[in-house]
Amino acid sequence: MSDTAAVPGANSSATAEPDFWTVHQGDARDIGTWLRRAAHEAGSDGAPFLQTTITSPPYATLVDYGSDNQIGFGQSYEDYLESCRSIFESVHQWTLDSGSMWVVADSLMERRRDGKPSRLVPLPFDLATQAKSVGWTLREVIIWRKDRTRPWSHHGKLRNGFEYVLFFVKSNSFTFNVDRLRDTGSLKSWWVKYPERHNPWGMTPDNVWEIPIPVQGSWDDSAFRHACPFPPELVRRMVTLSSEEGDVVFDPFAGSGSVVTGALEEGRRGLGVELNPDYVSLFHKSAPTLRRERSEAKSVSVMTQRLLELRMLKYPKELARQILRSGFTALQVRAVLMVVESVNYEFARTGYGTISCSVVVVDELSELETARLSKILAEVTARAPLSKYGLDVRCEVVSVDEASAQFPQGDVSVYTKGRAWSADFTLAGTDVGRWIHEAGVPTVVPVISPLHVRQSLEESS
Ligand SMILES: C[S@@+](CC[C@H](N)C(=O)[O-])C[C@H]1O[C@@H](n2cnc3c(N)ncnc32)[C@H](O)[C@@H]1O
Repeated sequence: MSDTAAVPGANSSATAEPDFWTVHQGDARDIGTWLRRAAHEAGSDGAPFLQTTITSPPYATLVDYGSDNQIGFGQSYEDYLESCRSIFESVHQWTLDSGSMWVVADSLMERRRDGKPSRLVPLPFDLATQAKSVGWTLREVIIWRKDRTRPWSHHGKLRNGFEYVLFFVKSNSFTFNVDRLRDTGSLKSWWVKYPERHNPWGMTPDNVWEIPIPVQGSWDDSAFRHACPFPPELVRRMVTLSSEEGDVVFDPFAGSGSVVTGALEEGRRGLGVELNPDYVSLFHKSAPTLRRERSEAKSVSVMTQRLLELRMLKYPKELARQILRSGFTALQVRAVLMVVESVNYEFARTGYGTISCSVVVVDELSELETARLSKILAEVTARAPLSKYGLDVRCEVVSVDEASAQFPQGDVSVYTKGRAWSADFTLAGTDVGRWIHEAGVPTVVPVISPLHVRQSLEESS
Protein backbone atom coordinates (compact mmCIF):
# COMPACT_ATOMS: atom_id res chain seq x y z
CA MET A 1 0.00 0.00 0.00
CA SER A 2 1.53 3.30 -0.99
CA ASP A 3 1.63 6.40 1.16
CA THR A 4 -1.33 7.78 -0.67
CA ALA A 5 -3.33 5.07 0.99
CA ALA A 6 -2.76 6.58 4.41
CA VAL A 7 -5.93 7.80 5.95
CA PRO A 8 -5.72 11.57 6.05
CA GLY A 9 -8.43 13.45 7.78
CA ALA A 10 -10.23 10.35 9.01
CA ASN A 11 -12.62 10.61 11.90
CA SER A 12 -15.49 8.58 13.25
CA SER A 13 -18.49 10.44 11.92
CA ALA A 14 -20.43 9.79 8.73
CA THR A 15 -19.39 13.25 7.63
CA ALA A 16 -15.68 12.53 7.94
CA GLU A 17 -13.26 14.37 5.69
CA PRO A 18 -14.11 13.50 2.09
CA ASP A 19 -10.47 12.58 1.48
CA PHE A 20 -10.88 9.47 3.62
CA TRP A 21 -14.27 8.17 2.46
CA THR A 22 -13.11 7.78 -1.10
CA VAL A 23 -10.99 5.57 -3.36
CA HIS A 24 -7.36 5.22 -2.26
CA GLN A 25 -4.54 4.01 -4.44
CA GLY A 26 -2.97 0.84 -3.08
CA ASP A 27 -2.51 -2.90 -3.29
CA ALA A 28 -5.39 -4.95 -1.92
CA ARG A 29 -2.88 -7.52 -0.69
CA ASP A 30 -1.82 -4.99 1.93
CA ILE A 31 -5.26 -4.26 3.30
CA GLY A 32 -4.60 -6.24 6.48
CA THR A 33 -2.21 -3.56 7.67
CA TRP A 34 -4.10 -0.74 6.05
CA LEU A 35 -7.49 -1.65 7.52
CA ARG A 36 -5.94 -1.81 10.99
CA ARG A 37 -4.84 1.79 10.61
CA ALA A 38 -8.11 2.75 8.92
CA ALA A 39 -10.11 1.14 11.78
CA HIS A 40 -8.22 3.23 14.25
CA GLU A 41 -8.64 6.42 12.28
CA ALA A 42 -12.28 5.64 11.56
CA GLY A 43 -12.87 5.73 15.29
CA SER A 44 -13.52 2.05 15.94
CA ASP A 45 -10.59 1.87 18.34
CA GLY A 46 -9.02 -1.01 16.50
CA ALA A 47 -12.19 -3.13 16.43
CA PRO A 48 -13.93 -4.43 13.27
CA PHE A 49 -15.67 -1.59 11.48
CA LEU A 50 -16.67 -2.79 7.99
CA GLN A 51 -20.40 -3.36 7.59
CA THR A 52 -20.33 -4.70 4.07
CA THR A 53 -17.79 -5.27 1.32
CA ILE A 54 -18.96 -5.18 -2.27
CA THR A 55 -16.41 -6.20 -4.83
CA SER A 56 -15.52 -7.96 -8.01
CA PRO A 57 -11.99 -9.32 -8.09
CA PRO A 58 -10.08 -9.15 -11.38
CA TYR A 59 -11.49 -11.55 -13.95
CA ALA A 60 -9.12 -14.37 -13.05
CA THR A 61 -6.04 -14.36 -15.30
CA LEU A 62 -7.91 -13.08 -18.35
CA VAL A 63 -8.09 -9.30 -18.17
CA ASP A 64 -5.18 -6.89 -18.03
CA TYR A 65 -6.19 -3.90 -15.90
CA GLY A 66 -3.01 -2.11 -16.87
CA SER A 67 -0.84 -2.07 -13.77
CA ASP A 68 2.22 -3.95 -12.60
CA ASN A 69 1.73 -6.38 -9.78
CA GLN A 70 -1.96 -6.70 -10.42
CA ILE A 71 -3.86 -9.68 -9.10
CA GLY A 72 -4.98 -12.07 -11.83
CA PHE A 73 -3.34 -11.13 -15.10
CA GLY A 74 0.17 -12.67 -15.25
CA GLN A 75 -0.48 -14.99 -12.29
CA SER A 76 -1.29 -18.68 -12.29
CA TYR A 77 -4.92 -19.45 -11.48
CA GLU A 78 -3.80 -20.98 -8.16
CA ASP A 79 -1.79 -17.88 -7.17
CA TYR A 80 -4.71 -15.69 -8.16
CA LEU A 81 -7.09 -17.67 -5.91
CA GLU A 82 -4.56 -17.50 -3.08
CA SER A 83 -4.35 -13.68 -3.43
CA CYS A 84 -8.15 -13.48 -3.28
CA ARG A 85 -8.20 -15.77 -0.26
CA SER A 86 -5.84 -13.54 1.72
CA ILE A 87 -7.93 -10.45 0.86
CA PHE A 88 -11.17 -12.19 1.88
CA GLU A 89 -9.44 -13.13 5.14
CA SER A 90 -8.45 -9.54 5.96
CA VAL A 91 -11.93 -8.34 5.07
CA HIS A 92 -13.44 -11.01 7.33
CA GLN A 93 -11.21 -9.97 10.20
CA TRP A 94 -12.30 -6.31 9.95
CA THR A 95 -16.00 -6.99 9.34
CA LEU A 96 -18.59 -6.48 12.07
CA ASP A 97 -20.67 -9.48 13.19
CA SER A 98 -23.66 -7.92 11.44
CA GLY A 99 -21.59 -7.62 8.29
CA SER A 100 -21.34 -9.28 4.93
CA MET A 101 -19.36 -9.55 1.72
CA TRP A 102 -20.71 -9.47 -1.82
CA VAL A 103 -18.56 -10.95 -4.59
CA VAL A 104 -19.58 -10.45 -8.20
CA ALA A 105 -17.90 -12.88 -10.58
CA ASP A 106 -18.33 -14.78 -13.80
CA SER A 107 -17.29 -18.22 -14.98
CA LEU A 108 -14.70 -18.54 -17.76
CA MET A 109 -13.45 -21.01 -20.33
CA GLU A 110 -10.13 -22.67 -19.73
CA ARG A 111 -7.65 -22.25 -22.58
CA ARG A 112 -6.25 -25.50 -23.94
CA ARG A 113 -3.96 -26.17 -26.82
CA ASP A 114 -3.72 -29.95 -26.51
CA GLY A 115 -6.87 -30.72 -28.49
CA LYS A 116 -8.86 -31.75 -25.42
CA PRO A 117 -12.16 -29.97 -24.74
CA SER A 118 -11.86 -26.77 -22.73
CA ARG A 119 -13.44 -26.84 -19.29
CA LEU A 120 -15.81 -24.21 -17.98
CA VAL A 121 -14.01 -22.86 -14.92
CA PRO A 122 -16.54 -22.16 -12.13
CA LEU A 123 -14.68 -19.08 -10.90
CA PRO A 124 -17.49 -17.83 -8.63
CA PHE A 125 -17.53 -21.13 -6.78
CA ASP A 126 -13.75 -21.37 -6.61
CA LEU A 127 -13.86 -17.91 -5.00
CA ALA A 128 -16.63 -19.16 -2.67
CA THR A 129 -14.36 -22.01 -1.61
CA GLN A 130 -11.60 -19.51 -0.77
CA ALA A 131 -14.04 -17.33 1.17
CA LYS A 132 -15.35 -20.34 3.11
CA SER A 133 -11.82 -21.37 4.05
CA VAL A 134 -11.33 -18.07 5.91
CA GLY A 135 -14.64 -18.09 7.77
CA TRP A 136 -17.27 -16.66 5.43
CA THR A 137 -20.63 -18.41 5.06
CA LEU A 138 -22.19 -18.39 1.61
CA ARG A 139 -25.79 -17.34 2.19
CA GLU A 140 -27.30 -16.49 -1.20
CA VAL A 141 -26.45 -16.63 -4.90
CA ILE A 142 -28.08 -14.04 -7.13
CA ILE A 143 -28.10 -14.14 -10.89
CA TRP A 144 -27.33 -10.73 -12.33
CA ARG A 145 -28.95 -10.79 -15.78
CA LYS A 146 -27.23 -8.29 -18.05
CA ASP A 147 -28.38 -6.85 -21.33
CA ARG A 148 -24.95 -6.91 -22.95
CA THR A 149 -21.95 -9.15 -22.36
CA ARG A 150 -18.43 -9.69 -23.58
CA PRO A 151 -18.54 -10.56 -27.27
CA TRP A 152 -16.94 -13.96 -26.79
CA SER A 153 -18.28 -17.16 -28.20
CA HIS A 154 -17.12 -20.72 -27.95
CA HIS A 155 -18.25 -23.84 -29.72
CA GLY A 156 -20.56 -25.70 -27.36
CA LYS A 157 -21.41 -22.62 -25.33
CA LEU A 158 -24.35 -20.26 -25.41
CA ARG A 159 -24.02 -16.48 -25.26
CA ASN A 160 -23.34 -15.68 -21.64
CA GLY A 161 -26.09 -13.41 -20.32
CA PHE A 162 -25.43 -13.29 -16.58
CA GLU A 163 -22.94 -13.04 -13.75
CA TYR A 164 -23.09 -14.47 -10.25
CA VAL A 165 -23.52 -12.30 -7.20
CA LEU A 166 -22.42 -14.20 -4.10
CA PHE A 167 -23.56 -13.03 -0.70
CA PHE A 168 -21.47 -14.10 2.29
CA VAL A 169 -22.17 -13.46 5.96
CA LYS A 170 -19.92 -13.44 8.98
CA SER A 171 -22.44 -14.49 11.63
CA ASN A 172 -26.12 -15.21 12.06
CA SER A 173 -26.85 -11.62 13.06
CA PHE A 174 -26.20 -10.30 9.54
CA THR A 175 -28.10 -7.30 8.21
CA PHE A 176 -30.46 -8.02 5.30
CA ASN A 177 -33.19 -5.43 4.74
CA VAL A 178 -35.21 -7.28 2.14
CA ASP A 179 -38.21 -4.94 2.54
CA ARG A 180 -36.19 -2.13 0.98
CA LEU A 181 -36.16 -3.97 -2.33
CA ARG A 182 -39.86 -4.67 -2.60
CA ASP A 183 -41.21 -3.72 -5.98
CA THR A 184 -44.80 -2.85 -6.89
CA GLY A 185 -44.01 -2.73 -10.61
CA SER A 186 -44.60 -6.40 -11.16
CA LEU A 187 -48.11 -6.70 -9.70
CA LYS A 188 -50.66 -8.01 -12.18
CA SER A 189 -54.24 -7.14 -13.02
CA TRP A 190 -56.00 -9.06 -10.29
CA TRP A 191 -54.66 -6.77 -7.55
CA VAL A 192 -57.62 -4.50 -8.28
CA LYS A 193 -60.11 -7.14 -7.13
CA TYR A 194 -57.94 -8.59 -4.38
CA PRO A 195 -55.89 -5.74 -2.90
CA GLU A 196 -55.92 -7.42 0.50
CA ARG A 197 -53.81 -10.26 -0.91
CA HIS A 198 -50.97 -7.97 -1.96
CA ASN A 199 -48.40 -6.31 0.17
CA PRO A 200 -48.86 -2.64 -0.80
CA TRP A 201 -45.09 -2.27 -1.00
CA GLY A 202 -44.82 -5.10 -3.49
CA MET A 203 -43.61 -8.63 -3.62
CA THR A 204 -40.52 -10.00 -1.94
CA PRO A 205 -37.76 -9.55 -4.52
CA ASP A 206 -36.41 -12.66 -6.15
CA ASN A 207 -32.81 -13.64 -6.74
CA VAL A 208 -32.63 -12.88 -10.45
CA TRP A 209 -31.80 -9.22 -11.01
CA GLU A 210 -32.15 -7.77 -14.48
CA ILE A 211 -29.90 -4.74 -14.54
CA PRO A 212 -28.35 -3.32 -17.72
CA ILE A 213 -24.64 -2.61 -17.68
CA PRO A 214 -23.60 1.05 -17.89
CA VAL A 215 -22.74 2.59 -21.22
CA GLN A 216 -19.05 3.51 -21.27
CA GLY A 217 -18.47 7.14 -20.38
CA SER A 218 -21.95 7.53 -18.93
CA TRP A 219 -20.67 9.43 -15.89
CA ASP A 220 -18.52 11.84 -17.76
CA ASP A 221 -17.56 11.92 -21.42
CA SER A 222 -13.88 12.21 -20.65
CA ALA A 223 -13.56 9.38 -18.22
CA PHE A 224 -14.50 6.03 -16.81
CA ARG A 225 -13.22 3.91 -19.56
CA HIS A 226 -12.98 1.13 -17.02
CA ALA A 227 -13.35 -2.40 -18.31
CA CYS A 228 -16.29 -3.41 -16.14
CA PRO A 229 -17.90 -0.82 -13.89
CA PHE A 230 -20.86 -1.92 -11.78
CA PRO A 231 -24.18 -0.35 -12.76
CA PRO A 232 -25.41 2.05 -10.04
CA GLU A 233 -28.62 0.04 -9.54
CA LEU A 234 -26.65 -3.13 -8.75
CA VAL A 235 -24.61 -1.26 -6.13
CA ARG A 236 -27.69 0.40 -4.68
CA ARG A 237 -29.40 -2.94 -4.13
CA MET A 238 -26.42 -4.50 -2.37
CA VAL A 239 -25.77 -1.39 -0.25
CA THR A 240 -29.36 -0.93 0.88
CA LEU A 241 -29.91 -4.62 1.55
CA SER A 242 -26.89 -5.07 3.75
CA SER A 243 -26.15 -1.76 5.48
CA GLU A 244 -27.63 1.22 7.27
CA GLU A 245 -26.89 4.91 6.91
CA GLY A 246 -23.48 5.78 8.31
CA ASP A 247 -22.12 2.22 7.94
CA VAL A 248 -18.79 1.61 6.24
CA VAL A 249 -18.99 0.01 2.79
CA PHE A 250 -15.68 -1.24 1.40
CA ASP A 251 -14.34 -2.33 -1.99
CA PRO A 252 -10.75 -3.66 -2.16
CA PHE A 253 -10.88 -3.74 -6.01
CA ALA A 254 -12.50 -0.36 -6.49
CA GLY A 255 -11.91 0.07 -10.26
CA SER A 256 -14.09 2.96 -11.38
CA GLY A 257 -15.19 3.57 -7.78
CA SER A 258 -18.81 2.61 -8.43
CA VAL A 259 -19.21 1.03 -4.98
CA VAL A 260 -17.77 4.04 -3.15
CA THR A 261 -19.98 6.36 -5.18
CA GLY A 262 -23.10 4.26 -4.58
CA ALA A 263 -22.33 3.97 -0.86
CA LEU A 264 -21.88 7.73 -0.45
CA GLU A 265 -25.06 8.42 -2.40
CA GLU A 266 -26.96 6.19 0.01
CA GLY A 267 -25.52 7.98 3.04
CA ARG A 268 -22.95 5.31 3.90
CA ARG A 269 -19.22 5.77 4.37
CA GLY A 270 -17.64 4.46 1.18
CA LEU A 271 -14.04 3.26 1.17
CA GLY A 272 -12.14 1.78 -1.75
CA VAL A 273 -8.68 0.57 -2.71
CA GLU A 274 -7.52 0.39 -6.32
CA LEU A 275 -4.08 -0.52 -7.65
CA ASN A 276 -4.16 1.36 -10.94
CA PRO A 277 -3.40 5.06 -10.25
CA ASP A 278 -5.08 6.08 -13.51
CA TYR A 279 -8.43 4.69 -12.32
CA VAL A 280 -7.97 6.40 -8.97
CA SER A 281 -7.29 9.78 -10.52
CA LEU A 282 -10.13 9.35 -12.99
CA PHE A 283 -12.40 8.66 -10.03
CA HIS A 284 -11.28 11.83 -8.28
CA LYS A 285 -11.62 13.91 -11.43
CA SER A 286 -14.85 12.53 -12.78
CA ALA A 287 -16.98 11.07 -10.02
CA PRO A 288 -20.13 13.08 -9.71
CA THR A 289 -20.48 15.31 -6.69
CA LEU A 290 -21.26 12.97 -3.89
CA ARG A 291 -23.46 15.19 -1.83
CA ARG A 292 -26.54 13.42 -0.62
CA GLU A 293 -29.55 15.10 -2.09
CA ARG A 294 -32.09 12.41 -1.41
CA SER A 295 -35.22 13.75 0.13
CA GLU A 296 -35.77 12.39 3.59
CA ALA A 297 -39.30 11.28 2.83
CA LYS A 298 -39.01 8.55 0.23
CA SER A 299 -41.64 8.86 -2.43
CA VAL A 300 -44.37 6.27 -2.25
CA SER A 301 -45.16 4.63 -5.56
CA VAL A 302 -48.52 5.23 -7.21
CA MET A 303 -49.10 1.49 -7.07
CA THR A 304 -48.52 1.36 -3.31
CA GLN A 305 -50.96 4.21 -2.73
CA ARG A 306 -53.57 2.64 -4.95
CA LEU A 307 -53.26 -0.76 -3.27
CA LEU A 308 -53.72 0.86 0.14
CA GLU A 309 -56.80 2.73 -1.10
CA LEU A 310 -58.29 -0.40 -2.63
CA ARG A 311 -57.67 -2.33 0.58
CA MET A 312 -59.42 0.39 2.58
CA LEU A 313 -62.39 0.47 0.21
CA LYS A 314 -62.77 -3.28 0.10
CA TYR A 315 -62.91 -3.53 3.88
CA PRO A 316 -66.40 -1.95 4.26
CA LYS A 317 -67.66 -4.04 1.33
CA GLU A 318 -66.47 -7.20 3.08
CA LEU A 319 -67.85 -5.91 6.39
CA ALA A 320 -71.32 -5.58 4.82
CA ARG A 321 -71.05 -9.11 3.42
CA GLN A 322 -70.21 -10.53 6.83
CA ILE A 323 -73.11 -8.63 8.45
CA LEU A 324 -75.60 -10.00 5.90
CA ARG A 325 -74.23 -13.51 6.46
CA SER A 326 -75.01 -13.15 10.16
CA GLY A 327 -78.74 -12.77 9.57
CA PHE A 328 -79.25 -9.04 9.00
CA THR A 329 -80.78 -7.99 5.69
CA ALA A 330 -80.54 -5.07 3.29
CA LEU A 331 -83.94 -4.04 4.63
CA GLN A 332 -82.11 -3.13 7.84
CA VAL A 333 -78.55 -2.32 6.72
CA ARG A 334 -78.54 0.40 4.04
CA ALA A 335 -74.91 1.40 3.58
CA VAL A 336 -71.43 1.43 5.10
CA LEU A 337 -69.70 4.79 5.41
CA MET A 338 -65.91 4.60 5.41
CA VAL A 339 -63.54 7.40 6.37
CA VAL A 340 -59.74 7.10 6.24
CA GLU A 341 -58.32 8.39 9.51
CA SER A 342 -54.66 7.81 8.72
CA VAL A 343 -52.45 5.93 6.27
CA ASN A 344 -49.07 4.49 7.09
CA TYR A 345 -46.88 5.18 4.09
CA GLU A 346 -43.81 3.79 5.83
CA PHE A 347 -43.23 0.18 5.03
CA ALA A 348 -45.10 -2.03 7.50
CA ARG A 349 -46.06 -5.66 7.50
CA THR A 350 -49.32 -4.76 9.22
CA GLY A 351 -50.78 -1.52 10.47
CA TYR A 352 -51.34 -0.05 7.01
CA GLY A 353 -53.65 2.60 8.40
CA THR A 354 -56.74 3.44 10.41
CA ILE A 355 -60.27 3.71 9.04
CA SER A 356 -63.65 4.20 10.60
CA CYS A 357 -66.70 2.32 9.35
CA SER A 358 -70.22 3.43 10.19
CA VAL A 359 -72.85 0.81 9.45
CA VAL A 360 -75.98 2.71 8.45
CA VAL A 361 -79.21 1.07 9.64
CA VAL A 362 -82.82 2.07 9.17
CA ASP A 363 -84.13 4.47 11.79
CA GLU A 364 -86.64 1.89 12.99
CA LEU A 365 -84.06 -0.72 14.06
CA SER A 366 -84.81 -1.69 17.65
CA GLU A 367 -82.32 -1.11 20.45
CA LEU A 368 -82.04 -4.85 20.89
CA GLU A 369 -81.20 -5.38 17.22
CA THR A 370 -78.74 -2.47 17.29
CA ALA A 371 -76.97 -4.04 20.25
CA ARG A 372 -76.88 -7.41 18.46
CA LEU A 373 -75.40 -5.75 15.38
CA SER A 374 -72.71 -4.04 17.47
CA LYS A 375 -71.78 -7.41 18.92
CA ILE A 376 -71.60 -8.94 15.45
CA LEU A 377 -69.36 -6.08 14.28
CA ALA A 378 -66.95 -6.85 17.11
CA GLU A 379 -66.94 -10.53 16.19
CA VAL A 380 -66.52 -10.30 12.42
CA THR A 381 -63.83 -7.63 12.56
CA ALA A 382 -61.78 -9.79 14.92
CA ARG A 383 -61.67 -12.80 12.62
CA ALA A 384 -60.57 -13.59 9.06
CA PRO A 385 -60.95 -12.31 6.44
CA LEU A 386 -61.33 -8.83 7.99
CA SER A 387 -58.63 -9.35 10.60
CA LYS A 388 -56.16 -10.00 7.75
CA TYR A 389 -56.52 -6.58 6.15
CA GLY A 390 -53.82 -5.05 8.34
CA LEU A 391 -56.06 -2.08 9.19
CA ASP A 392 -57.04 -0.57 12.50
CA VAL A 393 -60.78 -0.08 12.28
CA ARG A 394 -63.27 1.79 14.42
CA CYS A 395 -66.81 0.51 13.81
CA GLU A 396 -70.14 1.90 14.93
CA VAL A 397 -73.81 1.60 14.07
CA VAL A 398 -75.60 4.81 12.95
CA SER A 399 -79.10 5.52 11.76
CA VAL A 400 -79.86 6.88 8.28
CA ASP A 401 -80.69 10.22 9.84
CA GLU A 402 -77.28 10.33 11.49
CA ALA A 403 -75.47 9.37 8.29
CA SER A 404 -75.19 12.85 6.79
CA ALA A 405 -73.60 14.11 9.96
CA GLN A 406 -70.68 11.73 9.32
CA PHE A 407 -69.71 13.74 6.22
CA PRO A 408 -70.34 17.39 7.04
CA GLN A 409 -68.06 18.72 4.28
CA GLY A 410 -67.10 17.99 0.69
CA ASP A 411 -68.07 15.33 -1.80
CA VAL A 412 -68.16 11.62 -1.22
CA SER A 413 -67.99 8.74 -3.69
CA VAL A 414 -70.64 6.06 -3.83
CA TYR A 415 -69.81 2.46 -4.72
CA THR A 416 -73.14 0.77 -5.43
CA LYS A 417 -72.36 -2.32 -7.49
CA GLY A 418 -70.06 -4.21 -5.19
CA ARG A 419 -67.04 -2.91 -7.08
CA ALA A 420 -64.85 -1.40 -4.42
CA TRP A 421 -62.40 -0.28 -7.08
CA SER A 422 -64.75 1.89 -9.10
CA ALA A 423 -66.98 4.67 -7.78
CA ASP A 424 -70.33 5.05 -9.56
CA PHE A 425 -71.00 8.69 -8.72
CA THR A 426 -70.33 11.39 -6.18
CA LEU A 427 -72.62 13.17 -3.75
CA ALA A 428 -72.35 16.14 -1.46
CA GLY A 429 -71.51 14.70 1.95
CA THR A 430 -74.46 16.52 3.48
CA ASP A 431 -76.84 14.70 1.08
CA VAL A 432 -75.84 11.19 2.11
CA GLY A 433 -78.81 10.60 4.46
CA ARG A 434 -81.30 11.87 1.91
CA TRP A 435 -79.79 9.71 -0.84
CA ILE A 436 -79.94 6.57 1.33
CA HIS A 437 -83.59 7.25 2.10
CA GLU A 438 -84.42 7.77 -1.56
CA ALA A 439 -82.39 4.79 -2.80
CA GLY A 440 -84.55 2.43 -0.76
CA VAL A 441 -83.57 -1.20 -0.25
CA PRO A 442 -80.27 -1.86 -2.03
CA THR A 443 -79.40 -5.04 -3.95
CA VAL A 444 -75.80 -4.61 -2.84
CA VAL A 445 -75.05 -2.64 0.34
CA PRO A 446 -73.32 0.51 -0.98
CA VAL A 447 -70.00 1.77 0.32
CA ILE A 448 -69.82 5.54 0.71
CA SER A 449 -66.51 7.25 1.30
CA PRO A 450 -64.65 10.51 0.69
CA LEU A 451 -62.00 8.24 -0.89
CA HIS A 452 -62.50 8.35 -4.64
CA VAL A 453 -61.16 5.54 -6.81
CA ARG A 454 -62.23 4.87 -10.35
CA GLN A 455 -60.00 2.13 -11.63
CA SER A 456 -60.82 0.15 -14.73
CA LEU A 457 -59.62 -3.42 -14.80
CA GLU A 458 -58.03 -2.94 -18.24
CA GLU A 459 -55.74 -0.16 -16.97
CA SER A 460 -54.32 -2.40 -14.32
CA SER A 461 -53.11 -5.23 -16.50
C1 LIG B 1 -13.17 -6.30 -12.04
S1 LIG B 1 -12.38 -4.80 -11.74
C2 LIG B 1 -13.40 -3.99 -10.59
C3 LIG B 1 -14.42 -3.08 -11.22
C4 LIG B 1 -15.28 -2.37 -10.21
N1 LIG B 1 -16.19 -3.28 -9.57
C5 LIG B 1 -16.05 -1.21 -10.83
O1 LIG B 1 -17.27 -1.12 -10.64
O2 LIG B 1 -15.46 -0.39 -11.52
C6 LIG B 1 -11.02 -5.29 -10.79
C7 LIG B 1 -10.11 -4.17 -10.37
O3 LIG B 1 -9.13 -4.68 -9.50
C8 LIG B 1 -7.96 -3.89 -9.70
N2 LIG B 1 -6.80 -4.60 -9.12
C9 LIG B 1 -6.07 -5.58 -9.67
N3 LIG B 1 -5.12 -5.98 -8.81
C10 LIG B 1 -5.25 -5.22 -7.70
C11 LIG B 1 -4.57 -5.16 -6.46
N4 LIG B 1 -3.54 -5.93 -6.22
N5 LIG B 1 -5.00 -4.28 -5.54
C12 LIG B 1 -6.06 -3.46 -5.79
N6 LIG B 1 -6.73 -3.45 -6.95
C13 LIG B 1 -6.34 -4.33 -7.90
C14 LIG B 1 -7.92 -3.70 -11.18
O4 LIG B 1 -7.11 -2.60 -11.54
C15 LIG B 1 -9.38 -3.49 -11.52
O5 LIG B 1 -9.70 -2.13 -11.54
